[in-house]
Amino acid sequence: MSEVRPIVVELLGQLGSSREARQYLEQFSRVNESRFAVIKVGGGVLAEDLEGLATALAFLHRLGLYPIVMHGAGQQLDTALSQAGIETLKRDGLRVTSEEVMAIARPVIYRENARLVDALEGHGVRARGLLHGVFECDFADREKLGLVGQINQVHLEAVRGAVKSGALPVVACLGESRAGQVMNINADVATRELVWAIRPFKIIFLTPTGGLLDENGRVISAISLSNDYEGLMAQSWVHSGMQLKLAQIRDMLEPLPPSASVSITSAEKLTRELFTHTGAGTLVRKGENIEWFQQIPGERLATLQTLLEAAFDRRLRADWLYPRPVMGLLMAESGRAAALIIKGLDGLPYLDKIVVTPEARGEGLGAALWQALRARCPAMYWRARVSNPIAGWYFQQAETSHRRGQWVVYSIGIEDFDQMRRLVADAAARDSGWLEQRP
Ligand code: ARG
Repeated sequence: MSEVRPIVVELLGQLGSSREARQYLEQFSRVNESRFAVIKVGGGVLAEDLEGLATALAFLHRLGLYPIVMHGAGQQLDTALSQAGIETLKRDGLRVTSEEVMAIARPVIYRENARLVDALEGHGVRARGLLHGVFECDFADREKLGLVGQINQVHLEAVRGAVKSGALPVVACLGESRAGQVMNINADVATRELVWAIRPFKIIFLTPTGGLLDENGRVISAISLSNDYEGLMAQSWVHSGMQLKLAQIRDMLEPLPPSASVSITSAEKLTRELFTHTGAGTLVRKGENIEWFQQIPGERLATLQTLLEAAFDRRLRADWLYPRPVMGLLMAESGRAAALIIKGLDGLPYLDKIVVTPEARGEGLGAALWQALRARCPAMYWRARVSNPIAGWYFQQAETSHRRGQWVVYSIGIEDFDQMRRLVADAAARDSGWLEQRP
């Protein structure tokens, strides 16, 4: 493994920057080896993209990472049942499991588990199928649901044992009662319980769509539950399946530390999702509050300065803040994103500084900050260099943009033409606060 790792890091670098890749690899390797990730794979992925899945998992294994794979077999089960002429019955989203259904389900689940284990071993990856002994269950409701298990204990010995010996655990969604009655467990429920028992750093859902989709069918890059949950749930285009998924993810993350996150992606995009800031898929985090300060508290000021100097790679003058009539500071709890608003021309909010650390961008913290800013300042103006890497993004957010030499001045909510002209001149002439001027 030790010789492979540098080569792999270089390879990863081609996805983004190798610094990014190395940073994530270190982060993922820092937690206890069985706590890197739980990956939930639906039956659909096993049916359609087993090779892609095995390739992606083999890659992680080669990096010394041991995700715990949890799989369902819903689609295969539907097929097998209909071939046997048995009607699929669901109650509250759970498959009613009569003895007749179980007789068909069990071999199907065994087979799907074995297919994944075989595919992994075919890639030279040691894998261990765990069909029993992980989930100890009671009957969820014997009358209504038959042999559906409600998990009352998760036994991790076999999972940890597999990881210890260098094998990827591949866990099936079967459980048993204390007396040994085999029970069927809904794969999402099993994933949740496994996640709560393991408390992994990452939770990954591999789906054929590769993420949650917005109203135009595009993948939503990041969702912060604290900022976006209510709003999303109220959208008419968020259908009930997605509502359920979001609610499940919120429940799942609830007892975990804020560093934990859920990624919804596809097998093919998994590497990019994990090892770049921007990712490929949907990243869901609990999110953090964006706080508003009318006066900047001392420790926040220190954070702001460090943040700005690191992001722009320049030093601020010692007196940079002194002449600025501060209206307020928006700052993420973690101190990884901030916006400073000062009183500009005609008392209008002037966005003097805005900064988001690179890894926080992938989490959607930049978007959350911008949202908070827009809520505070219905009208405002700001400037950025023509060469600013996010000029394109500003251009999309702004209602107007005017070029003045090296500056572009942007505005939102300004109607008056004469005022606009004065704002542009004002913005272009402002002090930057940086110590040395650029050549
Ligand atoms: N690589 C990081 C992670 O796995 C960030 C991913 C960002 N992904 C996204 N869809 N915005 O946690």
